[in-house]
Amino acid sequence: MPLAVQVENLSKTYHTKQRKGLFKAEKRAVLALKDVSLEVQTGEIFGLLGPNGAGKTTLIKIITTLLLPSSGRARVNGFDIAKESNQVRASVGCMLMGERGLYWKLTGRENLQYFAALYHLRPELRPGRIQEIVELTGLGEFIDRTVETYSSGQKMKLAFAKSLINDAPLLVLDEPTNTLDVPSASELRAVVRQLNNQGKTIIYTTHIMSEAETLCDRVAIIDYGMLLTLGSVPELKTSLGCEQAVRIDGVISHKALQAIQALPQVREASLAMHNGLGQLTVIGHPTAAGKEDNGLLARLIETLGANGASIQRITPEEPTLEDVFIAKTGRTLAEDTRA
Ligand SMILES: Nc1ncnc2c1ncn2[C@@H]1O[C@H](COP(=O)(O)OP(=O)(O)OP(=O)(O)O)[C@@H](O)[C@H]1O
Ligand SMILES: [Mg+2]
Repeated sequence: MPLAVQVENLSKTYHTKQRKGLFKAEKRAVLALKDVSLEVQTGEIFGLLGPNGAGKTTLIKIITTLLLPSSGRARVNGFDIAKESNQVRASVGCMLMGERGLYWKLTGRENLQYFAALYHLRPELRPGRIQEIVELTGLGEFIDRTVETYSSGQKMKLAFAKSLINDAPLLVLDEPTNTLDVPSASELRAVVRQLNNQGKTIIYTTHIMSEAETLCDRVAIIDYGMLLTLGSVPELKTSLGCEQAVRIDGVISHKALQAIQALPQVREASLAMHNGLGQLTVIGHPTAAGKEDNGLLARLIETLGANGASIQRITPEEPTLEDVFIAKTGRTLAEDTRA
């Protein structure tokens, strides 16, 4: 089976002008992608995860031929993005820029009709195809209203519907649940799963780790334009070694938190308030190979006791993709890294 996407040593530098006072501008280069190589298998849901400014949209724009790379190569469904851009476009359905890719003075249905024509869908097939997509994405209530009257979430749903119009084997979705409420986001992910079960390959970017975790077969984490790691969710978690994560609820002071953070076994510790109680989350350093325990829990209890904390509950936690990211970068995914 051919690969859906094959990316080899892709780099992208943007050249911009930065204002310096009222009349001066300075040229500036932003290296948005650095030597990224990866492959997306046909039939998988592939997640691109990374904080704001990581380079996700840049990579998606190159794959969908909206942007040429500064160096490197990519093939999509067997076609070269630089030399066979028409074939690439015909074989990809994409949702980029969300609502900005829609015509606001047209109704939702007129938008879909317009894009169906743009993709050369045979006229006799258009009404049936559009009706199918309207039903699949739950647009029925507002499909015949002009888009300018839509809420942000309704526009996002229409943008998603638009990406399905050419029934392409590869669907590229750039943060499709942005601005959707929790139930709508979950419905959209269900449709994505359904389309994947019907054989479509999906590339899905997000900076929400739980989304990538629940939806994707494999995840690539990118940061500062570089590929940090790639694998299935269980593989990425296993890469942390015998990582231990523990949650402790109780009355816990800031001083106790600092004492915990100073323990050699502790890599990360944070304190939040939950239902009037302190909630301490601790990620330990991996234990030495072959060793089950490095005494983390015993030291936590001892240190909390010595700092006047009262413990109500201790819960072992599964490491998350966020933990993988913290382990590789020392930062959380929420941090903005835009240049
Ligand atoms: N047209 C542009 N001109 C100059 N710099 C740009 C341009 N587009 C993106 N960048 C820069 O390239 C880097 C990567 O941006 P990109 O939009 O690919 O990130 P992203 O991972 O999609 O982020 P987000 O989660 O915020 O959507 C950032 O530092 C950004 O400021
Ligand atoms: Mg983006």
